[in-house]
Amino acid sequence: TALSHIRNFSIVAHIDHGKSTLADRLIQSTNTVAERDMKAQMLDSMDIERERGITIKANTVRIDYTAKNGESYVLNLIDTPGHVDFAYEVSRSMRAVEGSLLVVDSTQGVEAQTLANVYHALDADHEIVPIFNKIDLPASDVSRVAQQVEDVIGLDASGAIAVSAKTGEGIIETLEAIVHQLPAPKGDPDGPLKAMLVDSWYDSYLGVIVLVRIIDGKLRKGEKVKFISNGTIHQVERIGVFRPKMENVDELGPGEIGFLTASIKQVRDTRVGDTITHQKSEVTPLPGFKPAQPVVFCGLFPVDSALFEDLRDAIDKLALNDASFSFEMESSAALGFGFRCGFLGLLHLEVIRDRIEREYDIDLITTAPSVVYEVYMRDGTMSELHNPADMPDMTLVDHIEEPRIKATILVPDEYLGDVLKLCQDRRGIQSDLTYAGSRALVVYDLPLNEVVFDFYDRLKSVTKGYASFDYTLMGYREDALVKMSVLVNDEPVDALSMMVHRDRAEVRGRAMVEKLKDLIPRHMFKIPIQAAIGGKVIARETLSAMRKDVTAKCYGGDASRKRKLLDKQKAGKKKMRQFGSVNIPQEAFISALKMD
Ligand code: GTP
Repeated sequence: TALSHIRNFSIVAHIDHGKSTLADRLIQSTNTVAERDMKAQMLDSMDIERERGITIKANTVRIDYTAKNGESYVLNLIDTPGHVDFAYEVSRSMRAVEGSLLVVDSTQGVEAQTLANVYHALDADHEIVPIFNKIDLPASDVSRVAQQVEDVIGLDASGAIAVSAKTGEGIIETLEAIVHQLPAPKGDPDGPLKAMLVDSWYDSYLGVIVLVRIIDGKLRKGEKVKFISNGTIHQVERIGVFRPKMENVDELGPGEIGFLTASIKQVRDTRVGDTITHQKSEVTPLPGFKPAQPVVFCGLFPVDSALFEDLRDAIDKLALNDASFSFEMESSAALGFGFRCGFLGLLHLEVIRDRIEREYDIDLITTAPSVVYEVYMRDGTMSELHNPADMPDMTLVDHIEEPRIKATILVPDEYLGDVLKLCQDRRGIQSDLTYAGSRALVVYDLPLNEVVFDFYDRLKSVTKGYASFDYTLMGYREDALVKMSVLVNDEPVDALSMMVHRDRAEVRGRAMVEKLKDLIPRHMFKIPIQAAIGGKVIARETLSAMRKDVTAKCYGGDASRKRKLLDKQKAGKKKMRQFGSVNIPQEAFISALKMD
């Protein structure tokens, strides 16, 4: 296809503003998929994505469109992940296209992810067409949202289109806007091959499938190509496009987006953002390439230790398809064998954990998520700390640095006070506060470790779900951090140890031991529960001994009640782990770490 008749674009939106529905509608209205094959949300392929309503892996579709001017165009849509955990993938895939549709729910308005995603699009020099969606709903207010887009984002909303992705209203106008408002790609068809690796995933029949955007030159079947970041050479077996089903083609030229397969075994061998060229060609790599780095670590242990090998198998399989997920074996005195895993963020962690539990049927104990600390020793060396249990002796440590984020929060006025308090409680430093209509735009500098555990939950609950949140990593800064250990019956439970700020250690320690006291069932003996820093106990509770058999309180001969209680005890036992002589239920690990 001639460059002048190609348009490459992505859709950016806040979660639930209708990105997938709009994509489906664009595909459907151009007959890219036969009506009977159209299942809702074509682009969200994984079940889990559909269930959670979030888009994780970038996907793509090629749409043929005959415009009102009678000319035929090829429109390539790259679907970008919508969540902050995948910000790096978003920013990479944006660089593969020239424009974006900015979908804003016209009943809601601009939200934090709208902003974050627009910034990625602007960074990638995109032309942006605002789309005001859900105009079929009575609460839709297009002029208010247009004003917001101009005031908050500073984007001209005069070319915006009012759409209902549900009824199809405004869809043709959207397609026309893609053709007339977005620029055609540029590229040199006769130059040496230069392609960007946009995404890759594992397919059990074809091996790794690599999504590419051709910048210059041509890519043909059978050719040998080189991945510049690691110098590997691959023979191209297939090339093709997505409509959205895979369809083979003979070649891909500049401006085109398609896939290649080349007997690549693992997704880890492909790096998003890498530059691909012919084996013998030399080209300057695309700028800004860096592999995605895990920022949140936690331990995953099977509840049933006999399932360790099954867990290994599950993790190996998941890692094949997810290069940003890292893992290494870990053994813990309390939890036995498991894995220390690294994730891009909390959502990524939850998705992987859910998949292991659901698809592989392994119950897991998840230890407290921890960020990566930089521990500077007195001898001048620095090491990364992925697990609080590995914290070296404090007397050898010079100082500790922790990652900080810039958090952007949009919140209706009436909840602003609660949001400021929450951020302040989490050691935040306010860096900006402005108003957009009846909402405040708050920017905070926060330690990532105060955010990883339950910040989203807290934010949602103090604002009744009306706040939206996004963040970017800012770098490392020193602070007074210490390791807090938890001892149950005088035995340290390493899975519960955590890094905390010194000034907050006592409050956290107290909250932790009080919670554990409620969560651990009584035993036949007295159990001390303590929080300590180094050798110093900072909080202590004692769980008193159980007096009688639990069934004793069911006086009379109610056998079924008695049976129920015993069953309940048995079920409870299944999910418990033995620590020395104490049983700790699985929920204790997660609940104990939540702050109130
Ligand atoms: P993520 O993939 O989770 O980022 O969400 P999304 O932005 O793709 O949103 P999605 O398309 O899943 O739409 C969210 C909800 O809004 C769904 O229940 C849709 O059915 C609904 N929806 C989308 N567009 C419209 C519309 O134009 N009108 C109405 N009434 N509902 C819509």
